Amino acid sequence: MNLPTPQKAAAWLKQAAPLRPTLAIVLGSGFHHVLTELRVAKKISYTKIPGLPKPTVSGHAGELYFGHLGQNPVLVLSGRAHFYEGHEMERVTFATRTLAAFGITDLLLTNAAGGLNRKFSAGDFMVLTDHINLMGTNPLRGPAVAGLPRFVDLTATYDKQLQAKLAKAGKITKLKLQRGVYLAVSGPSYETPAEIRAFATLGADAVGMSTVPEAIVARQHGLRVAGVSCITNLAAGISKANLSHTEVLETAERVKKSGAALIRNFAELYQKM
Ligand code: HPA
Repeated sequence: MNLPTPQKAAAWLKQAAPLRPTLAIVLGSGFHHVLTELRVAKKISYTKIPGLPKPTVSGHAGELYFGHLGQNPVLVLSGRAHFYEGHEMERVTFATRTLAAFGITDLLLTNAAGGLNRKFSAGDFMVLTDHINLMGTNPLRGPAVAGLPRFVDLTATYDKQLQAKLAKAGKITKLKLQRGVYLAVSGPSYETPAEIRAFATLGADAVGMSTVPEAIVARQHGLRVAGVSCITNLAAGISKANLSHTEVLETAERVKKSGAALIRNFAELYQKM
């Protein structure tokens, strides 16, 4: 099957776009409530965009929005394709390449994650300072892409200026933001307590099943990247209780207003950059 290219998807998006934002936001669990703050200019189902995979996970809608957060124009992706759904990495990162071809320069990636750091509580938010890729593959594996670097530098994956904007947005929101390293696994099983102990030794503060492929591909395209996790649960073995997707969704629901306010305030500060 010959899939449409990200360039084709971006060309389609350009003719459909009522705005030309430079900031895109990918919404993970815990952040969808920001849609209630978005002044929507246009909503487009992923099924209409050539080549964009439709998410299958509950809580991930599969809609692209153009709109304003405060005064700032943004493109919002509500729902993402995960590696654990069985998609190839090319498909997982198709939307990221499409955003780059569309003209997005700054990408905020949000997600739900389990907390490893003993100072974290369920319901906290964490700004990503770095990541560890344990998904077992790399999204840049495969034929070289003409015009893009083959060996991508990840020394500063998460942009310092955007991290500072998130910190400031946290203050305005009156949220205590944690900071830390996000470790990505393929999932979809949660981790064993032994794995979590190992990951803590490696230097991880949170663990999740997304974000890293998008961040790597975004850096290949030269986008500035920021990341925020909603710590929906304490990781296996740190939590006394067993883990469940229900707990993840319940915590996300409990803190959804804070998550939405954080993103809105970030978008407003972004405009002043
Ligand atoms: N592990 C992996 N992914 C997750 C978790 C977790 O504990 N919580 C939310 N996403």
